[in-house]
Amino acid sequence: MENKKLIEFNKILSKHAPPFRDRAELERGKYDFAIAYPDPGSLPLDGLLAALKDGLSDEGQDLALYPDVQGYAPLREYVSYKLKRDRAMTVDPEQVVLGDGSSQHISTIIDLLIDNGDAVITEDFCYSNSLTKLRISGADIHGVRCDKSGMKPDNLEMVIADLVAQDKRPKLIYTIPTFQNPQGWTMTLERRKALLDIASFYEIPILEDDCYVDLRFEGDNVPAIHSLDLTGQVMYVGSFSKTIAPGLRMGYFVGPEEIIGRFRMVRKISGSGVNEFAALAIHRYAMSGLDDHVEQLLKIQRDRRDTMIATLGETFGSNAKWSTPEGGLYLWLQMPESVDLNEVTKEALEAGVGYQPGTMFAADAGSGQNYARLCFGYNSSEEISKGIEVLSDLFSQKGFF
Ligand SMILES: Cc1ncc(COP(=O)(O)O)c(C=O)c1O
Repeated sequence: MENKKLIEFNKILSKHAPPFRDRAELERGKYDFAIAYPDPGSLPLDGLLAALKDGLSDEGQDLALYPDVQGYAPLREYVSYKLKRDRAMTVDPEQVVLGDGSSQHISTIIDLLIDNGDAVITEDFCYSNSLTKLRISGADIHGVRCDKSGMKPDNLEMVIADLVAQDKRPKLIYTIPTFQNPQGWTMTLERRKALLDIASFYEIPILEDDCYVDLRFEGDNVPAIHSLDLTGQVMYVGSFSKTIAPGLRMGYFVGPEEIIGRFRMVRKISGSGVNEFAALAIHRYAMSGLDDHVEQLLKIQRDRRDTMIATLGETFGSNAKWSTPEGGLYLWLQMPESVDLNEVTKEALEAGVGYQPGTMFAADAGSGQNYARLCFGYNSSEEISKGIEVLSDLFSQKGFF
């Protein structure tokens, strides 16, 4: 017994196991520009508490049951109403599935569609967690070149035609068309139509990730790709993370019955439905205070974006460029090509500033070393100015300016 060897779990992991993640990677900066959080000071805690109280007194005893596999029906009805009102999407509540944030749904779709070696199309730089999940699933990821209007249709068509010619028709196009993460642009209506035309010609489903759409503080709303789709090839995910709080873990998926039926099974075997306790509160809150709350939030986020941009202008000089997003929670910083922002990420964190280097978002896993995503949702305007100054001092010590 005494000489018993410890089991070496690293040797018996399944081929689907994700890479190891150290706790140190979770460290946050005082000036936290790394993650797209909303403003902590304006979280609607009183509204949520009142909504939870109402929900529990109305239906609390139902917590004794396992929830509906697609999630709390009244919240799905609210999602259906909101998508009609805000995104011109006609969606029956039976076509909605609630989940632990929208990332859980993205992950499920990848599990349902992608086998090792399957080709998947994304934007050239896109949400890092979706890329990680695609890589774990063995996807062959192809990033399409983008400009300020979104994916370039000529490049999209070329990439797809090339893959089809090799008998590798892509299984999925994953896009973040509104306040694209990390690039910040919103895909124009023309580009959305062009994307849909190409995808329908080649019969490739689209997963439209509209996580940030409610956070528009200027410019015109652009219709959801889902609302333009006549062939049922567009699946859609949205979230309450950016309008209420990510800690609630509540997102939604909309898709065709063939896929929803699989979601029902996935949810059933993972304990059925989604956290009903949170759903009761979110539903009551969404029906009463959410719209006013988002209006308040937009004023705060716009000020913070403006502060970040103004301080970058004062301290970063003409060597750097950045996007000016009309909404969302981040901007995309571009330094001269010779700069490697991966190398200084750790040092920046030690100086108190967190950011994510461009390579984390690169579909090809290598480009973007001179880019970074800077989020402006979490810190106050004063902190944002200070944090950008700290970053500017570090970058000038490194000779980047
Ligand atoms: C583009 C995009 N999609 C999805 C998510 C996942 O959000 P959640 O799972 O909290 O809904 C995020 C989170 O930052 C994101 O940036």
